[in-house]
Amino acid sequence: MVVVAILAAGRGTRMKSHLPKVLHSLGGRSLVERVLESVEPLSPSRQIVIVGYQAEEVKAAMQSIYSLEFVEQTVQLGTGHAIQQLLPHLEGYTGDLLVLNGDLPLVRAQTLQQLLQTHQENHNAATILTAHLPEPKGYGRVFCNGENIVQQIVEDKDCTAAQRQNRRINAGVYCFRWQNLAEVLPHLEANNAQKEYYLTDAVTQVGQVMAVDVEDYQEILGINDRLQLAAAYEILQQRVKEKWMIAGVTLIDPNSITIDETVELHPDVIIEPQTHLRGNTVIQTGSRIGPGTLIENSQLGENVTVKYSVVTDSIIQAKSRIGPYAHLRGQAQVGTGCRVGNFVELKNTKLGDRTNVAHLSYLGDTTTGTKVNIGAGTITANYDGVNKHPTKIGDRTATGSNSVLVAPVTLGDDVYVAAGSAVTEDVPNDSLVIARSRQVVKPGWRQKQKSQE
Ligand code: UD1
Ligand code: CA
Repeated sequence: MVVVAILAAGRGTRMKSHLPKVLHSLGGRSLVERVLESVEPLSPSRQIVIVGYQAEEVKAAMQSIYSLEFVEQTVQLGTGHAIQQLLPHLEGYTGDLLVLNGDLPLVRAQTLQQLLQTHQENHNAATILTAHLPEPKGYGRVFCNGENIVQQIVEDKDCTAAQRQNRRINAGVYCFRWQNLAEVLPHLEANNAQKEYYLTDAVTQVGQVMAVDVEDYQEILGINDRLQLAAAYEILQQRVKEKWMIAGVTLIDPNSITIDETVELHPDVIIEPQTHLRGNTVIQTGSRIGPGTLIENSQLGENVTVKYSVVTDSIIQAKSRIGPYAHLRGQAQVGTGCRVGNFVELKNTKLGDRTNVAHLSYLGDTTTGTKVNIGAGTITANYDGVNKHPTKIGDRTATGSNSVLVAPVTLGDDVYVAAGSAVTEDVPNDSLVIARSRQVVKPGWRQKQKSQE
């Protein structure tokens, strides 16, 4: 049985931010949310978040995650002091406590599982995660005997010059046999450079403590400032991109592309430079996205192409071609084999199969049949200043260039709208509609005018 405690009470002074450190976002999710995700597979019996600095904001940000408990550390006197706050909440508890710093967003669940296993198999009083860092500056240094039994942990600020040479660091992840820890917690002292109660001091007082090295030290990067936040994002992106490239996706110039972990890509998808894929986006095989494209929370079928465009909350069926410079939003749905071209915006609009909207159009709240051709510059006037109204367009209908469809309005099947029309009334099947004044030509008008001058 394991209870998890996450340290999230600190301000994070080095972030130089009004936002508490643990709420800073890394690739769409906060640091503390990511820590919670990494403990989820351990199925902890309780998850306790220790909050303090801007406690209400931190709690509010995590409200949607039920089964979380919050314990308040009203003054932040150090990581040991933070864990002291658990004493009244874990009275009589006889299992293990897994403690994680809240600024450790990249740690893998598998690493935590291994740590817990080693802890339990060796009947340790505590087991801590360590790493050998090329640049250990800022981290607590861990000193062990030959059997990986921890002798001492010394914070960077408290190290002698010789101790600072040690590259083995404390990752900020600890397994404790709770009862052993509970005994030593009340006796911690703040005799150190920061005048804080260190959890790391408790570690060496509880009994046999073992150190376990993490395989990939990038996992345990602690986020203390914006540089480390950016470095963590890079590591995260590296992980995601490697995964998709191994799965058969081509990334052209991967450094210029960003992909959220929530995105799903199929083999033989090609992602061109300067493209960003976000949220719950799925892209089927054979599609080619970019360059210069943003796709967010959208589903793209097979063999779709999208160039220099923005697509949010939309669905695009197979073989459709989008862009350059198109904007799809608000649950736009594009059928198969459609073309949505240059400077076209679709909002809450459904295009039937093989429909073209190729140039300079805005379609809002519109439904079209199949094989419709929307002429260059056709606009739906869907908003009367108060309400939005729908436009319906039947199969094989074509609108002439620069026509306005004033909603609510319905055009039947096989309708032809003359160029420059302002259509305000419904049009039955098979009709031509001309809704503009007839052209008037006055021969010799210029000469008459001149003679009057
Ligand atoms: C801590 C460790 C250090 C380790 C490093 C790993 C201590 C004394 N030092 O140092 O050995 O190498 O993490 O990243 O533990 N917090 C509270 N209440 C407090 C103070 C901090 O909840 O009173 C929380 C912070 O919000 C943060 C975590 O504890 O999530 C760690 O605090 P931080 O100040 O970042 O510790 P480090 O100096 O990085
Ligand atoms: Ca830290």
